[in-house]
Amino acid sequence: MNFSFLNEYGHYFVDGTKVTLLLSVITVILGAIFGTGMSLLRLSGIWPLRWLATAYIEFFRGTPIIIQIFLVYYALPQFIPDFHFPPFPFLEEYGGEFTAAVITLGLNSTAYVAEIMRAGIQSVDKGQMEAARSLGMKPWMAMRLVVIPQAFRTVLPALGNELVVVIKETSIVSVIGLNELMFNADTVKGSLSLPFEPLIIAAFIYLVITLTLSKLVGMLERRLTKSNA
Ligand code: ARG
Repeated sequence: MNFSFLNEYGHYFVDGTKVTLLLSVITVILGAIFGTGMSLLRLSGIWPLRWLATAYIEFFRGTPIIIQIFLVYYALPQFIPDFHFPPFPFLEEYGGEFTAAVITLGLNSTAYVAEIMRAGIQSVDKGQMEAARSLGMKPWMAMRLVVIPQAFRTVLPALGNELVVVIKETSIVSVIGLNELMFNADTVKGSLSLPFEPLIIAAFIYLVITLTLSKLVGMLERRLTKSNA
């Protein structure tokens, strides 16, 4: 094994890691917001909304993400004349691929977060909603101030897990040529004809990121459970 290529090609990994982290953070924020909204639609008393949310969730959880990224990136522009993915605001240097990646990963994570949040909301005792309503809160207010915060605490480990999954899943968007960590590792691998050393470096970086985040989520969990005691 020879890692001397890092002297000259190390910046590929640094730059790629930056894109991977940006992509993950934006995806998780979008996934958390839209996923929570989607879980509410999924639990809605209005059946067409519930039905649409269920169809959405089943589609994005039931098909491979690699197909989803290809569909977004190649099929969408076919149906909309003159369509190009605009560069992502403030991150123009990464091109439209970054936007397509954010959209796909965001759509995907939304479906997973929706199921996580649904489980969390359903785990909150019915009496909590009833108590909040009896204090005069409107249903939405009771949901937002009483039920969702409790649900959030329950599902924190699952959300932490989703965060780790998203970081690893970002590697799939290398197939549309976004220069994130996996893509750059592959570039180095190809240009130097090194069969696996660049992949070991990439794996190591992913591992450092995911382990660090698991630790942080664990700390947050302990803090939240303490304040609950
Ligand atoms: N790799 C799997 C797929 O291709 C799982 C995706 C999981 N996504 C998530 N946001 N948890 O579909």
